[in-house]
Order: sequence, then structure tokens, then C-alpha cells
Amino acid sequence: MVNRFAVLMLGLGALGPVPALAQDQTPVQRGRAVADSRCADCHAVRAGETVSPNAAAASFTRVATTPGMTELALQAALQTSHRTMPNLILDADEMRDVIAYILSLAKR
Ligand code: HEC
Repeated sequence: MVNRFAVLMLGLGALGPVPALAQDQTPVQRGRAVADSRCADCHAVRAGETVSPNAAAASFTRVATTPGMTELALQAALQTSHRTMPNLILDADEMRDVIAYILSLAKR
């Protein structure tokens, strides 16, 4: 599983810009939908929320406001976290969008 994920991460870099399917939505908006449907069971995903449903899972606002947090750091975090959660494999678009969403939380 980890290997498959690593291949996915490499693919993310190689793909370059991916044509938007839902062109009326920004990456941040699509990422918010991904967060709502895939992450909110455990993480507090909305701006300003600090208490996650799963106490071990950091709120996305806290993740976003961690000093030095970058897209690259989040890719690495997503690659090393959730080892035991095969359902959480995201495709390249979902990964990019949810990272854009998380990073947007630091700007509010
Ligand atoms: C089933 C519960 C669960 C779900 C669903 C879940 N997470 Fe997590 N997440 C955790 C837990 C628990 C941790 C902390 C332990 C670990 O790293 O595995 C964590 C850690 C993280 C971290 C690292 C945070 C840090 O402090 O460095 C990130 C980033 C993250 N999750 C993002 C996501 C994203 C994005 C999604 C949705 C695509 C998601 N998580 C879905 C439980 C979950």
C-alpha cells in the first residue's frame, strides 16, 4: 500500500497541470468537498475549527497554521500518515485539491 501511494505521489509531480473537470469550481472549493466527504470523520476540516472528532487527528486549521507548512510538507505528511487506512488513498486531483484547501485555511 505504501508503495502504491509513493507511485501516486511521483505521478503527481510528473502529471503537471491537470485540466479541470469541474471548471466552475476552484481547487480550494473542490478540496473542501474532498475534506468534507473523506476527512471530516476524524479531522476538524472547517476554518477556525480546532476540536477534531478524533482527538488524535489535528484540525486542518492547526495543520495549515503550523509554521513552515507548505504544499510539499503536506504531501509528505499525507504520504506518511494514515498508513493503516487504505480507504484514504486519494487520486492526484483529490490530493492536490485537498492540499490547496488545507493551505487556504491559513489565510483566513
Ligand atoms: C479515520 C480517521 C481519519 C481520517 C478519515 C483522516 N485522517 Fe488524517 N489523521 C488521522 C489521525 C489519527 C492522524 C494522526 C496520526 C497519524 O499521523 O496517522 C492524522 C494525521 C493527518 C495529517 C498529519 C497532521 C500533522 O499533525 O502533521 C494530515 C495532514 C492529515 N491527517 C490529513 C488528512 C486528510 C487530507 C484526510 C482526508 C483525505 C484525512 N487526514 C482523513 C485520522 C484520520
